This record gives sequence, C-alpha cells and structure tokens, in this order.
Amino acid sequence: MNIKTTKATAPKVKPADESKLGFGQKFSDHMFMLDYDEGQGWHDARIVPYGPLSLDPASPVLHYAQEIFEGLKAYRSQNNDILLFRPDENAKRLNNSAARMCMPEIDVAFNVEALRAITNMERDWVPASEGTTMYLRPTMIADGAGLGVHAAHKYIYYIICSPSGAYYKNGLAPIRIYVEDKYVRAVNGGTGYAKTGGNYAASLKAAGEAEKKGYEQVLWLDGVSREYVEEVGSMNMMYIVNDTLLTAALEGNILSGITRMSILTLAKDMGIKVEERKISITELLEADAGGKLQEAFGTGTAAVVSPVGELTYKDKTIKVNNGQIGPITQKFYDTLTGIQYGKLPDKYNWMVKV
Ligand code: COI
Repeated sequence: MNIKTTKATAPKVKPADESKLGFGQKFSDHMFMLDYDEGQGWHDARIVPYGPLSLDPASPVLHYAQEIFEGLKAYRSQNNDILLFRPDENAKRLNNSAARMCMPEIDVAFNVEALRAITNMERDWVPASEGTTMYLRPTMIADGAGLGVHAAHKYIYYIICSPSGAYYKNGLAPIRIYVEDKYVRAVNGGTGYAKTGGNYAASLKAAGEAEKKGYEQVLWLDGVSREYVEEVGSMNMMYIVNDTLLTAALEGNILSGITRMSILTLAKDMGIKVEERKISITELLEADAGGKLQEAFGTGTAAVVSPVGELTYKDKTIKVNNGQIGPITQKFYDTLTGIQYGKLPDKYNWMVKV
C-alpha cells in the first residue's frame, strides 16, 4: 500500500525547553491515517497534518468503546540516528488486542512501515535531551454510525506523535503504590490483556482515590480472590525476592508488556533467576518481613523501568530498599535505555533505524 503525504502548511513551533515537555502533552505536525471498510479492507494510507477527527455522534467508539491502542518510542541517538524500539512487537500486540475487540487486524510488516514513515516525517520532533523521546500512539477506533451493540463495519487507524519527557514527574525517583483491594481491573475471560481504552477508563476511580492519599499508582489484585498481584495499569510489576526476579505470569488478565519481555531477556542474560508465576500479596509481605524483598519496579514503554519505593496494602506499608532505587533496577534501567539510545550494542536487534 502506498502512503500519500500531505504536508502541513503552517508547521508548529517546536518546544524550546525540552526539560518542560511532560508526557503526551505536545503533538507534532503530522499524523498517519488508514481507513477500513468491510468488504474493502484497509485503504487510503496517508500522512496528513495533525488535526481533529470528524466522527458521527453515533459512532460505535463513542458509545461502546470499541477502541485499541499502542505506545512506542522514537529515540535520538548520540550520532543523530532516529531509532524505534521493537515496533514489530507493537504491531503484533495491536493485532492481539484487535482480535479480542472484534476489530480488523493490520499486516504487521505494513504497520511497521507506517510507524517508520510517520517517524521519518516527524524526525525533527524527536527531542535530543537525556531521557526524552518522541512517543508514538497508534490507535484504532470503530467508525460509522449505529447504536446496535455489535462490531462496527468501518474503522480508522491513526498514529500520532508526542515529543515527551519522563512519564512520572519526578523521573527515576521511586514511586509510592497503593495495593487496590476494593476495585478490580480485570477478571478471567475479560479484556485485561488487550490494550483497550475501557481498561484504562475503569481504572480512573481507583487511581483518583489513591492519588488523594498520596500514591502515584495502584497495583491491581486478581478480581476473584483479591490475593494475587497483577499489574499497575501503566506498567507491569517485577520484584526481586531472594535474588530471584518474580513477575506475574501472562494468564489473560495483564498486558503482555514489550518492556516486560525485554527485561526478562536481559535478566536471563545477566544470570538472574526469573520466575513468571502467580505471586500473592501475602508472599510479598512475608518476603518483606523476612528481609527478602530486595527491590520492586515497574516496566512499561512510557514508564521505562520505574523503581517502587513503597507499597501499601490495607493498613500495612512496606518500604522497599529503604525507598531508594535498588542496584538491579538501576542496572536494568541503564542497560535498556543504553540499548534504546544506541549507547550500548544492540545484540538482540531490537532497534529499527528510521
Ligand atoms: C505505554 O506505556 O505506552 C502505555 O500505553 C501506558 C500508559 C501511558 C497508558
């Protein structure tokens, strides 16, 4: 499929102070777009000036939330190359989400080409300061008009680009997490593993209540026994217990994080023992009481590797590693970002040059 390009006639002024970018606040000049009609398939790939979408008020996405998205980053290396991190994994995961949400899949190779094309078009928007990136948000929404509850017949896929700084306003400073015991995010057979907007909408109430108590995020427990730790919503969670890396297994309730899978690869290569399995909150509390919970951190595209300094469950608060970033977390952060910014050799071939 050819990608037709229409250039913006009035390019925006790029943010002068990269230290004030924030996350997902500013958007570049162009976006990629693709339309789908039942019987015709995907068509009309194009790069157009960034701007509002026109949707029918009866569009199914607005009523029944048939929507999926992805997140990945473009990095500027020291020698000014623009690099994408594992875009094929995002394209594959988008298709997994699409299958769950009854939406059409997109050819993985074509989607990677689209990601490269919009990144290339917006390469001047990729910031250069340490810790900054251009965050890409591929999004698919149901289009058309109709209030019957069934899968739509038309879809729009678009990719927008946002020059961004760290997801958490305090960067690599350890965050405080509230273990949520009232609300649930996912249940077996639900949409927990799909990257769909509804999962995030459903998390807002708990996140808002936790924020009022001074926590950055909530850690979700399984929806049935409220005993097993799942994910944080914006990141997967990892724990270093007795020198072993523990993380929740992919059993349908949590997102299959691309940073998660990359950290597991790095851990195995570093000779760290890895266990992907069910982890109960009781096990973590007991590990802490026995002095065996060494570190905790989250992993995600936006969050990268984020140390967790405190976990509160009911009336019990655990201070992890005295509220400081631990040596293993730091090593993962340095190694992963070293590869992503082209400072360390990319022996896994994760980076795609644009
Ligand atoms: C990401 O890490 O890319 C995410 O999508 C998480 C969050 C910003 C919604």
